[in-house]
Amino acid sequence: MSDTLKIVTDSAEAEFAVTEGTIRATELRQFATPDGPLASFDPGFMNTAACHSSITYIDGDAGILEYRGYPIDQLAASATHLEVAYLLLKGELPNPTQLAEWERQIMTHRFVHENVRDLIHAFRYDAHPMAKLMSGVASMHTFYPSARRIEDPEARDLNIVRLLAKIPTMAAWSYRHSIGRHFVYPNDELGYVDNFLAMLFQSQQRVYRADPRVSRALEILFVLHADHEQNCSTNAVRAVASAGNDVYTSAGAGIGALFGPLHGGANEAVLKMLREIGTKDRIGEFIEGVKNGRAKLMGFGHRVYKNYDPRAKIIKGACEDVFEVTGVNPLLEIAVELERIALSDEYFAKRRLYPNVDFYSGLIYEALKFPPEMFTVLFAVPRTAGWCAQWLEGTLDPEQKIMRPKQIYTGYRTRDFVPMDER
Ligand code: CMC
Repeated sequence: MSDTLKIVTDSAEAEFAVTEGTIRATELRQFATPDGPLASFDPGFMNTAACHSSITYIDGDAGILEYRGYPIDQLAASATHLEVAYLLLKGELPNPTQLAEWERQIMTHRFVHENVRDLIHAFRYDAHPMAKLMSGVASMHTFYPSARRIEDPEARDLNIVRLLAKIPTMAAWSYRHSIGRHFVYPNDELGYVDNFLAMLFQSQQRVYRADPRVSRALEILFVLHADHEQNCSTNAVRAVASAGNDVYTSAGAGIGALFGPLHGGANEAVLKMLREIGTKDRIGEFIEGVKNGRAKLMGFGHRVYKNYDPRAKIIKGACEDVFEVTGVNPLLEIAVELERIALSDEYFAKRRLYPNVDFYSGLIYEALKFPPEMFTVLFAVPRTAGWCAQWLEGTLDPEQKIMRPKQIYTGYRTRDFVPMDER
């Protein structure tokens, strides 16, 4: 690839340096057009890099995902979520002393202010748990005002620890509230994932101890979901952070973005779709509907992965471990057959549509007896690690300016106000 790009128009000619596979978009401004200085139009940021980042690497064509250079399959096989969170935030895997100290810090901050409890209780019983989680997280800077001092390294680190520590508590309580159960407080005897499961499912036991196979499967899911470079919610986090916001306010925006059915809400939509299909013999009819634009095959397709989503493969494996404990989810049969038919169909092959992370994760969550509304919450808890790392990187990046895209204006130009009686 040449390291300059030459643009010639009728009235001008210029050479652009191509660095890191990009040209600096602001340099396009030197070309005058009848509509003003030349700009690029890129709704959905299909081909626009908005930041430098050294956190997560994806090669969508090759199906590669790495956190700080470590392949996702190796991390999923061997690391805990807290180790991965440390890696994402600090750039290196922790040694045993660093990990012990990191875990100690997270464990000591798991309790939330009692007002958060009241906040969650203030919602209607049928409110979506993502709304409760989003409000809880967005409210946190009011309890910890030091978070607003984003220029203070100690305050930054402490509030990141607080958020990572408290998000499982708020997530679990959002769920317990919807089923009308008492809130279970964090337990010092349990690790991050086991404690989360206990806060979700503890009933009359003194200490709820999850089956280790279930706990390991959830840990794997957490590792797989921890970060995914500049996806929709991370972009929301970075955009809000670019205005000088604290980590809680920024992560609150991320939760809002993740809620969408095209993003983190897709696993909830997959289950709905599988249930609507109902039986294997109706898959053909459903696929025809997708090809005719009547429906989307949820859990398929990805903006970046055009070969396969490496996370989907690992999740499929985790399904087996969970189903050993819970029994097979009857919807699995439909999912497997749907995947088989879709992968052999030209429509999907031509568009390079493959199962993504959400295709199988919902089946695991359902087998664990989570209601579909909780699925996106189970995505938000681990993704908080990525949001914190991306927030920190963006906040410390001297190149980062307030995010403020241009628009192509298509509305009216200046016209006189029309008084009410003349309209
Ligand atoms: N089912 C049927 N057709 C699809 C699908 C699908 N799931 N996804 C894309 N297409 C078609 C789309 O209609 C278009 O066809 P055509 O060229 O004929 O107009 C073509 O494939 C390209 O799709 P696109 O919408 O331009 O691709 P995108 O990069 O803008 O969208 C996506 C990516 C993930 C939003 C989309 O594939 C989708 O809506 N998938 C279903 C929702 C889903 O599973 N989301 C979870 C994503 S992974 C978790 C996460 O990171 O949040």
